[in-house]
Amino acid sequence: MKCALVTGGSRGIGNAICEKLSQDSSYHILINYYSNKEEAENTLEKVIANGATGEILKFDVANFDEVKSVLTQWQEANPEAIVEAIINNAGITKDGLFMWMSLEDWSSVINTSLNGFFNVTNFFMQKMLRNKYGRIVNIVSLSGVKGTAGQTNYSAAKGALIGATKALAQEVAKRNITVNAVAPGFIRTNMTSNLDEKELIKMIPVNRFGEAEEVADLVSFLVSKKSSYITGEVININGGIYS
Ligand SMILES: NC(=O)c1ccc[n+]([C@@H]2O[C@H](COP(=O)([O-])OP(=O)(O)OC[C@H]3O[C@@H](n4cnc5c(N)ncnc54)[C@H](OP(=O)(O)O)[C@@H]3O)[C@@H](O)[C@H]2O)c1
Repeated sequence: MKCALVTGGSRGIGNAICEKLSQDSSYHILINYYSNKEEAENTLEKVIANGATGEILKFDVANFDEVKSVLTQWQEANPEAIVEAIINNAGITKDGLFMWMSLEDWSSVINTSLNGFFNVTNFFMQKMLRNKYGRIVNIVSLSGVKGTAGQTNYSAAKGALIGATKALAQEVAKRNITVNAVAPGFIRTNMTSNLDEKELIKMIPVNRFGEAEEVADLVSFLVSKKSSYITGEVININGGIYS
């Protein structure tokens, strides 16, 4: 059984990626979530409705011990399963000016995006190298590319993840494993629901927020065999915002 693991697959972009992969690939979809069981179940229903298979794995990507224990149990229960694709999508924002930023707001954002990448990807790395094939896609952000005022923590987490993407890509390229980052601009999800869309679209040449499905289409391409010669890249998907 060949699998694709999507972290934060319960809502938003992660949910759209699970759905898209269930249409475009033959992977068994591993849907990770943190707190929204019902939304994770909705995602699984859509995956199954598309004729694919999948299952739900609950863990906090930021918690090394929890990730290790859930994934170890899963791998022991499914010894033949091979995770060929990992989409590190789980992420949070805790916005605020840096001068007032608490250690908790700094750490939780870094722990989720950056340490989450380590905790999940590192678990599978040796197996993926032995398998001599793999696809890793890290969902970063425009903020990690250009920096955004009010998001020093988030920009740092995503910027660091871009560095990790480029470094790991070079380590594992010989084994047919690609590692890429996708950097969305403003995408219509819960994460952006409190933003002033009317005001913000003034700086987006395409004149609208993007849809999660549009990001999922790009991820699906990067997960496919068609993208074999693309690695270590950061692909912007932001409606033309110069970055
Ligand atoms: N929306 C945008 O405009 C935008 C732009 C650039 C980049 N991004 C990035 O795209 C990714 C998805 O964002 P989104 O807009 O889809 O956000 P969202 O709608 O808020 O969904 C976040 C997802 O991440 C999961 N999650 C959060 N913390 C987690 C943890 N510790 N462990 C496991 N799962 C966790 C959530 O699970 P639960 O449902 O269980 O809480 C949820 O499925 C993030 O990395 C974000 O930084 C988004």
